[in-house]
Amino acid sequence: MTNEQPVKLTHYSHGMGCGCKMRPQYLEKILKSLPVPSDERILVGTGSSDDAAVYRINDSQAVVQTIDFFTPIVDDPYDFGAIAATNAISDIYAMGATPLFALNVVAFPTKTLSQEILKEILKGASDKAAEAGIAIVGGHSIDDNEPKFGLAVTGIVHPDKILANNHALPGDVLILTKPLGTGILSTALRKGFAGDDDLAEAVKWMKTLNRAAAEIAGEFEIHACTDVTGFGLMGHLSEITRGSGVEAEISFTKLPFMPNVRKYAEMEAIPGGTRGNYEHYSAYIRWDENLSQVERYMICDAQTSGGLLFSVPENLAENLLEKLHQNGCPAACVIGKIHRKGEGVIRVSK
Ligand code: CO
Ligand code: CO
Repeated sequence: MTNEQPVKLTHYSHGMGCGCKMRPQYLEKILKSLPVPSDERILVGTGSSDDAAVYRINDSQAVVQTIDFFTPIVDDPYDFGAIAATNAISDIYAMGATPLFALNVVAFPTKTLSQEILKEILKGASDKAAEAGIAIVGGHSIDDNEPKFGLAVTGIVHPDKILANNHALPGDVLILTKPLGTGILSTALRKGFAGDDDLAEAVKWMKTLNRAAAEIAGEFEIHACTDVTGFGLMGHLSEITRGSGVEAEISFTKLPFMPNVRKYAEMEAIPGGTRGNYEHYSAYIRWDENLSQVERYMICDAQTSGGLLFSVPENLAENLLEKLHQNGCPAACVIGKIHRKGEGVIRVSK
């Protein structure tokens, strides 16, 4: 093994900078064309674009179910597994739920890649699951031309404690718990612009569970919550604003970015997913004319395993921020507010 060239797992990826999620309008359209089964126990289903499905078992318990998988975002197989697991479990936290257990979802080119690589991917995932307090208890694998990996995760929540994404109210403050830029940084890596420090920074954040943020949020009256992933800050925020029937105001200068994101964005390390987000979500955005195209792409950057985005009453914001800072979310910050009732428009100022 020692003389072999290290395998470049990211050669298999499409350069989306995130999961291979279908564009939202694509999936929405298909789902709308299918008959919707009615079941009053489905508390969160296809009716809202939320992070996970929620199914009521009884008055005090509901099951939360999500699945997420994608092609490699980094070359290190252990990190890829850990990131994919962190990302998949995140949707459980984004619903205010507690994860219970998970299953592996594996596609792997067994003829061209060593089993050792798959073992490392699975180990990264199982270590991360252990950190989340859950076990991975099986799964499904197929032979495929490119590796893909993720988890199906089951969680539990009290039906009254569900953190949906469609109850934001005017006057709320918007808090984001991780910095942005994983899509641009991973594209910069693939293009050979970014260095080991940039990789380490992005990997550190992508491997940070949203567990602490979610547990702290559980102590507060949060109006809406989602996690920022493939559709970027604008896509996931617009799910909140459109779902809640409100308008939001975001300030570019308040947004937290990882180091060098602007530099690489200016070198055109813009992932396809980020360009797609910009094109699709601009319909809901009123851009300040002073924002450059590079800045607009930065705001729309497709994230992998991003932070939680909270919409919280203004009088609670300071206390929530302080607790987040004290408990493993040092980058949490206010990025804007819910301005008024409306049809989902997001105003982005310089
Ligand atoms: Co999500
Ligand atoms: Co998801």
